[in-house]
Amino acid sequence: MVIGMRILTGLQPSGKLHIGNYFGAMEPAIRLQQKGNAYYFIANYHAMTSLHDGAALRENTRELAIDFLACGLDPEKAVIFRQSDVPEVNELAWILSTVCPMGLLERCHSYKDKVAKGISANHALFAYPVLMAADILLYDSQLVPVGKDQKQHLEVTRDLAVKINEALGEGILTIPEVLIKEETAIVPGLDGQKMSKSYNNTIPVFGEEKPLRKLIMKIVSDSTPVEEPKNIENSTILALFRLFADDVAYEEMVNSFQAGGFGYGHYKQQLWEAYWAHFSTMRQRREEILADPSYVDEVLRHGSEKARATASVVLDRIRRATGLS
Ligand code: ADP
Ligand code: TRP
Repeated sequence: MVIGMRILTGLQPSGKLHIGNYFGAMEPAIRLQQKGNAYYFIANYHAMTSLHDGAALRENTRELAIDFLACGLDPEKAVIFRQSDVPEVNELAWILSTVCPMGLLERCHSYKDKVAKGISANHALFAYPVLMAADILLYDSQLVPVGKDQKQHLEVTRDLAVKINEALGEGILTIPEVLIKEETAIVPGLDGQKMSKSYNNTIPVFGEEKPLRKLIMKIVSDSTPVEEPKNIENSTILALFRLFADDVAYEEMVNSFQAGGFGYGHYKQQLWEAYWAHFSTMRQRREEILADPSYVDEVLRHGSEKARATASVVLDRIRRATGLS
């Protein structure tokens, strides 16, 4: 990537931040704030496609902002804002939808998957990729880091930007590049499946010590007797320990698995300690942020001002080109 590029990504405030979200999305985004001109937002309009509880949406949105700050987002380096604080994004979504073929949306896996999971097939869920395209295009974003599951939405975004430029003039919209985090392994959950809010198998990043320890002790393992060697393939404990341990500690656990002599409870305790230590500074930072509620409000207010100023330049350009102004 080129230093100074405009980087943008969004996270949905759809529940408690878990370690899959942290390693798969938040930590890589925070690392990128050093390299580019980063815009990170809390996609609360998108979360409305599955959450219809105002109090919960407000609470989750605020919690996610606090999590970002606790995990190291520096508001001097990156702009952080709530999607709905720049409602102009809906205007761009409308403009984009006028050039968006139905077939493009009908082909989107994410829509089909969500409907298959039982989420009701409302219009917002169907039009979700158009709003996502507007999120990206409204800020002249050049680089969009996302998980593999979002790749197709980025293709839709690029298609729509090309169509607008063909219809209204080259350079009206910036065509973004996608940055897929291929190297991020899928973090397994308590039951060994992909960790996900929808599978109820998550380990949150933040929370009370006792229930979190209990959760880690509940990780599913097989029934190999204590003295026997343990299988290192497909071990959820090892895959999770890898995230927190240095190479030496990880190798030691692998060797100990192979040697036998310890039960899984012993390794879960080691995993617990490594997990708890890993987030200790962030936990402390979170407490400090919680102690001063006006700080988050101020960061979000400032972020939305900056985001809005950037958006207005792009919107102005496209409003003129469309004949709206
Ligand atoms: P969930 O599946 O819990 O609803 P989301 O779909 O909201 O999570 O994911 C938000 C971000 O976190 C995405 O960028 C996604 O790629 C990443 N992510 C979610 N779960 C995992 C996981 N188990 N391993 C790695 N990354 C993940
Ligand atoms: N759809 C993304 C997700 O579920 C969140 C999102 C919304 C997003 N708008 C975006 C990500 C724009 C990147 C860019 O993870």
